[in-house]
Amino acid sequence: MEASGQKIETVMVGDRTIPPEGARYITIYIMGQAYQVPETLTILKAMEFAGYQYKRGCGCRGGICGACGTVYRKQGDHTLHTGLACQTVAEDDMILAQIPFFPANRADHGGVDTSLSPDEQIATLYPEIFRCVGCGTCTRTCPMDIDVMGYIAHFKRGDVMRGAKTSFDCIMCGLCVSRCPANISQMNVAMAARRIAAGQMTPRSETTKNRAEQVNAGRYEEMLAELGQMDKEELKTLYVEREREPDLSLPGEWMPHDQTKL
Ligand code: SF4
Ligand code: SF4
Ligand code: FES
Repeated sequence: MEASGQKIETVMVGDRTIPPEGARYITIYIMGQAYQVPETLTILKAMEFAGYQYKRGCGCRGGICGACGTVYRKQGDHTLHTGLACQTVAEDDMILAQIPFFPANRADHGGVDTSLSPDEQIATLYPEIFRCVGCGTCTRTCPMDIDVMGYIAHFKRGDVMRGAKTSFDCIMCGLCVSRCPANISQMNVAMAARRIAAGQMTPRSETTKNRAEQVNAGRYEEMLAELGQMDKEELKTLYVEREREPDLSLPGEWMPHDQTKL
């Protein structure tokens, strides 16, 4: 391959990525090893182009599973950057390492005393939140632009609902946890808070309650038994021909013609 008049050899080629026509080649470093890859690829695709195969550290490829946390530096830049490999475009001179898993502290959420107030429950499960030094590293690290330091501050002040809402977009990538000087596992604190907020602080939904009662009373047993008798082709046909709610319809605007199975 030719780029800027120089002959460049591709070290390894994965089986997923087709380089864009006429792409310029850039150099990236994966675990310290140099590779030449076409520009415009995400880090994830660039690593595959370089011959890496993802067995861990990759899930949705769409920025929502949090499996592809990555840290990188640029040659000559002291700053340590973080991002999602499936969302961040590879740049020349990136020195890359993945953090597909980080050993975050996870308290036994099920064992908490629910007679305590929500903020006391959080403080009991994760007393280390009070060691937060307010450095803001977690917020600067978060690839979802979540105010991580802010939600930890809400929990410290006892505002569990506000912290749960602030953390709602967390994808559990663990990057904030990997950088916290106070050793707080922010994502797990927030997960516990969202569970407490949903389970103990939010009014029950009548619709969900009614549907759960119907399920428990056996309303769907016969239908499930019918489905269990069908072969693969019948199931496929049923699936393909099913009535579908139009995209972007407003709540309550659409109902299927056949309402016997609701
Ligand atoms: S809050 Fe932490 S775990 Fe959640 S998305 Fe942000 S960096 Fe990842
Ligand atoms: S990185 Fe840790 S100590 Fe720093 S603001 Fe975030 S939670 Fe607090
Ligand atoms: S692969 Fe799921 S967030 Fe990147």
